[in-house]
Amino acid sequence: MWIAKTKAELRARLDAASRPIILVPTMGALHEGHASLISLAKEKAGTEGTVLVSIFVNPIQFDRAGDLAAYPRPLSADLGVCETHGADGVFIPDDGEMYFSDHSVTVKESSLSTHLCGAARPGHFDGVCTVVLKLFLLTGCNSAVFGEKDFQQLAAIRRMVRDLDLQTEIIPHPTIRESDGLAMSSRNIRLTTAQRADAPRIHQALLAAAGESDAESMLRVAGKIIGGSEFAKIDYLSLVDAETLAPTENLSKPAILACAVFYGEVRLFDYVSIGR
Ligand code: PAF
Repeated sequence: MWIAKTKAELRARLDAASRPIILVPTMGALHEGHASLISLAKEKAGTEGTVLVSIFVNPIQFDRAGDLAAYPRPLSADLGVCETHGADGVFIPDDGEMYFSDHSVTVKESSLSTHLCGAARPGHFDGVCTVVLKLFLLTGCNSAVFGEKDFQQLAAIRRMVRDLDLQTEIIPHPTIRESDGLAMSSRNIRLTTAQRADAPRIHQALLAAAGESDAESMLRVAGKIIGGSEFAKIDYLSLVDAETLAPTENLSKPAILACAVFYGEVRLFDYVSIGR
């Protein structure tokens, strides 16, 4: 498995690589969820293709300096995960390699990002779309794999691909969960033991709410279960249209019940699909 730290090294490696090139963009701190994205990329690449993992903690998608500083960066363990799951190459640029100090052009997504996580984190999805577009352009990848766990991110990236006529195929991968139902996330390791033991209530709350027959009851049931925790603080709990991500009460169309919950400084996110 090769490692490229600069754009020039990446280009040299990819010039010699066979296609298709399947990219798995990550910010590192790789867990089983990422491992399954890499395995899916390997399956899609077949015996001929190239699986490339990028590891870059993208500063422009963080709205809180503390969150960026606290983001885990276990590089040697990450490289082990990449190698074990079949990556052919890993791109690990630093901030200066990815962004000029006076960079002034970014991607702006102005509809889907105004809801849910985007409402509380202005600019976050613009930062995600910008770095993902740069990675698509730098790698010339044919396809890229993203987890469905971050469904708003996936929706914003798909919208960017559609609106900017990008030729990259987006391959979604279902959410991977711990055995107690907690959605896997690089943030989970920042939970205290007591918070970690409590956090599966998020998924339990969403599943219980999904059994209700109207929007108001769904929000009430989920709110009560999460609110019953001594650790959890709801950032938002919302039922949205699955296509526009705008708040809805209409259950005759596919919808998503989503929430973000703070455990101390750690913000966890999860959702269930309704009516699919
Ligand atoms: O999902 C992530 O890890 C990041 O948002 C991504 C897509 C790698 C962009 O920095």
